[in-house]
Amino acid sequence: MKILDGRKLSNIIKEEIKKEVSKRSSKKKKIPHLAAVLVGNDGASLTYVGSKVRSCKQIGFLSTLIHLKSDITEKKLISELDKLNQNPSIDGYIVQLPLPNHINEERVLLAVDPRKDVDGFHPTNFGRMVLELPSFIPATPFGIIEIIKRYKIETSGKNCLVIGRSNIVGRPISILMSQKVSYGNATVTLAHSRTKNLKELTLKSDIIISALGIPEFLKVDMVKEKVVVIDVGITRVSDKNNSKGYIIKGDVDYVNVSKKASYITPVPGGVGPMTIAMLLQNTLLACKRKD
Ligand code: GUN
Repeated sequence: MKILDGRKLSNIIKEEIKKEVSKRSSKKKKIPHLAAVLVGNDGASLTYVGSKVRSCKQIGFLSTLIHLKSDITEKKLISELDKLNQNPSIDGYIVQLPLPNHINEERVLLAVDPRKDVDGFHPTNFGRMVLELPSFIPATPFGIIEIIKRYKIETSGKNCLVIGRSNIVGRPISILMSQKVSYGNATVTLAHSRTKNLKELTLKSDIIISALGIPEFLKVDMVKEKVVVIDVGITRVSDKNNSKGYIIKGDVDYVNVSKKASYITPVPGGVGPMTIAMLLQNTLLACKRKD
């Protein structure tokens, strides 16, 4: 069994980006600038946005955090996004999800200028990704693809099961894995909450990408020998013995499934750190497009 070490890989990618930023700086080219919009004080969102901003500093990007109150109106939020769209210093920005219930996510995501949409959530980018045109690929699926590429995992003709159909992970990764590219060409099945006999599907799969959010859902008796497992789950499970009061669990019973798998991502330290690295990669791309 080989661990797909997302932390190590993300550090390599961040180092590559840092070098490119310093080259740009010595040539007096624009330094990439990422903004993050956070509405409210959701604990997990604060942590994610905090580490996105910290990572920018590490690699020499400029960053701006726009922290708005949870009772902000949709109209006011969209006017903040308009300001970011108009601001030439900002190359790309993200609106951290989920948003409070009174705000319509679809209208907010439509207000992001597709050229600055480094999360790749705008329909223009999503559509371009489906058509294999240049676009911003959402950071989590992009991170999974990068793991597959850099660890040279064979995907062509393999049975790949994606569990979960969210717009952020499940649906885009199911599309990418089926595309006619070196990291794709898989025979993809997309399972979701209405899927029957999931175990029959997991047992037939060469590659399982789980983005479900149910801690330790995928058990050892559900997978075949030499399976490749990519665990996208990040659920906080309360734990009194931990100083934070919780621990992070993935979708996979790692201790047991890892004994059978050929490759597996740990949680934490797998897909999570890759998501941030690929967001930075998209921001660099947005900046370079303006050169
Ligand atoms: N919430 C969970 N994942 C993501 C992500 O990749 N981007 C944003 N903006 N919000 C998220």
